[in-house]
Amino acid sequence: MSKHILLIIGGGIAAYKSSELIRLIRKSGMTVRCVLTESGAQFVTPMTLAALSENEVHTTLWSLKDEAEMGHIQLSREADLVVVCPATANLLAKMAGGIADDLATTLLLATDTPVMAVPAMNVRMWTHAATQRNIKQLAEDGILVMQPDEGAMACGEFGPGRLPEPEAILAEITRHLENGTGAASLVGENELGSNPLDGQPAFAPDAHRPLRGKHVLITAGPTHEPIDPVRYIANRSSGRQGFAIAAAAAEAGAQVTLIAGPVHLTTPAGVMRVDVETAREMEKAVHEALPADVAIMVAAVADWRADSQSGQKIKKKGAAPAPLKLTENPDILAGLAQHQQRPGLLIGFAAETEKIAEHAKAKLAKKGCDWIVANDVSGDVMGGTDNSVHIMTRSGSEIWEKLPKPEVARRLVAKISEEIS
Ligand code: CTP
Repeated sequence: MSKHILLIIGGGIAAYKSSELIRLIRKSGMTVRCVLTESGAQFVTPMTLAALSENEVHTTLWSLKDEAEMGHIQLSREADLVVVCPATANLLAKMAGGIADDLATTLLLATDTPVMAVPAMNVRMWTHAATQRNIKQLAEDGILVMQPDEGAMACGEFGPGRLPEPEAILAEITRHLENGTGAASLVGENELGSNPLDGQPAFAPDAHRPLRGKHVLITAGPTHEPIDPVRYIANRSSGRQGFAIAAAAAEAGAQVTLIAGPVHLTTPAGVMRVDVETAREMEKAVHEALPADVAIMVAAVADWRADSQSGQKIKKKGAAPAPLKLTENPDILAGLAQHQQRPGLLIGFAAETEKIAEHAKAKLAKKGCDWIVANDVSGDVMGGTDNSVHIMTRSGSEIWEKLPKPEVARRLVAKISEEIS
């Protein structure tokens, strides 16, 4: 029988994405009925939601007609899953506190159906101790809380708090309905505990998962090295290749820790993501994530950082620009090669514009890793979608001609699986 979703839409700018979510839910063969909060109605109209869901939209607790026809409590009980999207800071706080002062919160308190909340809010609101406390409480109460995405926000700030893409929300809904379980994109799931193999993502048991039981640690994206509060040193890395490898490793059954520099990418399903900004933060996160069976250092770590960081914006002074003194950043890959808990298979990436094989070979020795995956970055690889790579191992080398980054990822994961199985 087709599944039924009750979608509660809170009042935030991200409410407009609920229209796309309804379309995707319907397209996947499920039915959906919407409850719109008073503030949600400031962002989307009941008419839009009714047209897309092809169901009546419920907005108030005090509708005699609804009460006579089905009763409000019934609204949530007839659903297989209640999805709160966007879940604003205010809605989450009410849910955590058990407050029922409108239709949405009354339904949430009265339901015995599983509830998934998809938060979206300003970064400061998300990181505020009160919100984090509420999220923790909700996770403890058995509510599935999705991790918000990180990126530029409608309010002009940058950071975690963006609503995940509707495709990612649908994937989480489907996963829950199919497995009765969530993935690492849920708060409180798959967090690094004392045993890093805890929280292996749930996959269909019959599929071939060659990396099941393995912990794979991946770095991805650039690092940003601040100069003053408004400027930083960076590079063009998009993080796509590292994220694709994380997705492929999770698909292969691994528990994946993805340490990401500042990028605009959605966390792949089944991946535990740790966001960092600078090389030193990335190094610390890598060490904290150990032990790992395999480490793949894809990040384009900034080689240098500003020697000292100005607390205030550096002002122009006359004609001469302020000299920028640089200090070398730690080499995370080389450090890991020397680490007491060195992963069994340690893989580095190399960005090269010439003499690729020669430089890759030299890098293999210099960094003390097992393989180097060398990218030819003379074209538009950095930030682009395709990649040509040379794989240099201690026993030989191979070349993979121009391939989409997800395909490079799949082949690399297949090669890793072969190596460590
Ligand atoms: N790397 C790292 N920490 C650094 C610099 C690089 O862990 N501070 C890792 C990258 O993640 C990558 C590998 O080292 O896996 C090679 O990066 P690359 O930038 O090509 O090498 P560099 O050491 O910076 O060498 P060069 O710039 O001289 O080519």
